[in-house]
Amino acid sequence: MSTPYILALDEGTTNAKALAVARDGTVLAAGSAPVPVAYPRPGWVEQDADAVWKAQVEAIRACLGVLDAVPEGVAISNQRESVVAWDARTGAALGPVIGWQDSRTAEFCDWLRSPEREFAVSVATGLSLDPMFSAPKMRYLLDRLGASAGVVDGQVRVGTIDSWLVSRLTGQDSYVIEAGNASRTLLLDLSTLEWSQPMCDLFGVAREILPQVVASNADFGSTRGLDVLPDGVPVVGVLGDSHAALFGHGCRTPAEGKATYGTGSSVMVPAGAQPSVRRGVSTTLAWLTEEPVYGHEGNVVASGTAMDWAARLLGVEAGKGLDALAATVEDAAGVSLVPAFTGLGAPWWDRQAVGVITGVTAGSSRGHLARAALESVAHQVADVVDALGAQDLTVLHADGGATASCLLMQTQADLLGRDVMVSADAEISALGAALMGFTRLGWEVPTPLPGQQEQGGRRYHPVLDEHQRSCARTRWSHALARSRLAPG
Ligand code: G3P
Repeated sequence: MSTPYILALDEGTTNAKALAVARDGTVLAAGSAPVPVAYPRPGWVEQDADAVWKAQVEAIRACLGVLDAVPEGVAISNQRESVVAWDARTGAALGPVIGWQDSRTAEFCDWLRSPEREFAVSVATGLSLDPMFSAPKMRYLLDRLGASAGVVDGQVRVGTIDSWLVSRLTGQDSYVIEAGNASRTLLLDLSTLEWSQPMCDLFGVAREILPQVVASNADFGSTRGLDVLPDGVPVVGVLGDSHAALFGHGCRTPAEGKATYGTGSSVMVPAGAQPSVRRGVSTTLAWLTEEPVYGHEGNVVASGTAMDWAARLLGVEAGKGLDALAATVEDAAGVSLVPAFTGLGAPWWDRQAVGVITGVTAGSSRGHLARAALESVAHQVADVVDALGAQDLTVLHADGGATASCLLMQTQADLLGRDVMVSADAEISALGAALMGFTRLGWEVPTPLPGQQEQGGRRYHPVLDEHQRSCARTRWSHALARSRLAPG
């Protein structure tokens, strides 16, 4: 008898993945395909919406090729904030995906900006008025389409990547957005979980054109008209990738958070059933099932970038090479690197900050700089955890490429003074989306979750004493202060 499974898709910025996840959480098969990204002008980041879909189909085909059964459902984890517009009748994309890193709408955001508006935006949406989020991108796309006509005759649709994938999977039957993804648009009222009329007015996006906001394990419709899947497979769970990772790690209370170590880092903790705004970090909807679960999230701009830069500078291989060099010394011997290459993200949000190396002496070595580069990643994550006010946090779950470094993970535990738990599952976002789908199908979510310590994950306990930790954190704060004394 064949094993029932959910087909979990993870549409990331550079890769589309597909995983077949069985009821016990084991991965039966996987496939992936690259997604091209274009940088047509400085600050612009675009993707071809059809190429995104095709890559996803290719990943599904590669995954299903080795299985003989049809999935019980499809679940989706997706890159957030990116925006796409399409034709309601044909499903054809109307222009490129405007990527989440795209900053072409920075001037528009600056033009909107005033202390009163920033306050209103933050209270209503939990976010800052920043071009990373979707609303300014939607406005830009709709303006380009002269979409007022589209609003009238209902021909133009606009949404995030989850809306786009659900629309394609269901043969245009569904026009929806998952509530957590909607909470990254700057248009969702975090308290009511409905589109906010004042925010729609502020950004100039007609509310009537927007997709219906639905729960993370809603009825998203069923597959129709695809080559790669039969008709009638229900879409059972959708989460933005950071939210899916949080869910996949099993973080359900403020005692457990997660950090994803990529080019930058995203740190997120569940923050209860009511939205509460915190300075320096975003308040977001983690997921919505019967009840909402809110989250606080902070994004570090340069983490993988910092380590890659140091590896290049020091003439070693990124990843293992840098790690090995950093391990040749006991500590950074007072050297600190603040990798503010394009300013600092959460919790400082200081675009004027500059990269600095401090504490250099005649005895400083390549090893010390390598060590400082690793430590810079851990310090930045610790700064976000501090800003999250996560007094209750006892364990930080970790995922992403840099978690391969035991030295970085031990440093992270030391600088946080808390345990760090590295999942054995590399594809934690897809797994998290699958587990959300389990809740729709009435499947029990397995405990312990696959990837937890009992299943081969790695757990790091802090070994620095409080005095050593506090000295290290103070040294970092001094380096940060220098980084932020940017010449005007
Ligand atoms: O907020 C952006 C994030 O969702 C993108 O994730 O993994 O595609 O870079 P990723």
